[in-house]
Amino acid sequence: MSNLVDPFARAITYLRVSVTDRCDFRCVYCMSEDMTFLPKAEILSLEELERLCGAFVRLGVRKLRLTGGEPLVRRNIMNLFHGLSRHLESGDLDELTLTTNGSQLAKYADELAGLGVRRVNVSIDTLDPHKFQAITRWGKFDQVMGGLAAAKAAGLAVKINAVALRGVNDDEFDHLVSWCGDEGFDLTFIEVMPMGDVGGETRVEQYLPLSMVRAKLAERWTLEDIDYRSGGPARYVQVRETGRRIGFITPLTHNFCESCNRVRLTCSGTLYMCLGQEDAADLLTPLRMSDDDALLDTAIREAISRKPKGHDFVIDRRHSRPAVGRHMSVTGG
Ligand code: 5AD
Ligand code: SF4
Repeated sequence: MSNLVDPFARAITYLRVSVTDRCDFRCVYCMSEDMTFLPKAEILSLEELERLCGAFVRLGVRKLRLTGGEPLVRRNIMNLFHGLSRHLESGDLDELTLTTNGSQLAKYADELAGLGVRRVNVSIDTLDPHKFQAITRWGKFDQVMGGLAAAKAAGLAVKINAVALRGVNDDEFDHLVSWCGDEGFDLTFIEVMPMGDVGGETRVEQYLPLSMVRAKLAERWTLEDIDYRSGGPARYVQVRETGRRIGFITPLTHNFCESCNRVRLTCSGTLYMCLGQEDAADLLTPLRMSDDDALLDTAIREAISRKPKGHDFVIDRRHSRPAVGRHMSVTGG
């Protein structure tokens, strides 16, 4: 049986799975303070998530990333990592990884490393504890720093994701670059994306094109264009002074869709074929309809056959409504 290829000849080899839409933080650009989350009854069990991931692996997915919300706040999440790590052992999967806010890493870093996880993406927009508090609302800076130390000690490679926020962390980019250099972390800057209502006009005010971030960084650092691609949307430069990479994810100023290799699964069994489009496929029904995966496989193939060419995010005052109604925490970044 052939692997998954979409109508634009892109092979789908990467599945991101939001294992919960909940989070122990309330980052201002991501969530409103009084978020309503999915009722527990609508959330797939860990066994169902494992079966779904298994189907994708069988159909050619080589890389799995668990996200959220915050994946590590889901109860018994390590059971899922255990189950999925079997695909690493069998050689059917190249990489099992996660995106996390770091709050629970001190607890789980060793176990994750033991299961074959080699890298983690940790979201940190600022190194100033007060700003950290203001951005994450509920986050604890020291706890996250402890998590990072544990990840390092466990031998996990760390990539820091920082959302560039005008008037918030735009005076800290140099510091982030030198800190990542010292710690041995890679760093990726992300443009704020219009996903889900977070109240107020925050995103328009805080939107900062990464072309400006790059120009600012270039005043202090020697940025060398490199070919390195992580298979994702980021463009990378090498910082000569630190020897580390910096990635730029620019959904708004640069359309990266042509090389997209991924789809996103929510914790309620909905598959989104594109981060910036509403179109989705229900995998819950075929999953629960039979213990055999035939229906599920058909539904997955049908969904991939509808993967759109790309997204059309815009942030400006005339488009004050989010481009997509759902929050990032539904699908993960
Ligand atoms: N725009 C850009 N990035 C976002 N994230 C969450 N919401 C948004 C948004 N609206 C980021 C988090 C994390 C990653 C998973 O997505 O900071 O780094
Ligand atoms: Fe939680 Fe990440 Fe959203 Fe912050 S950005 S609220 S850490 S899911």
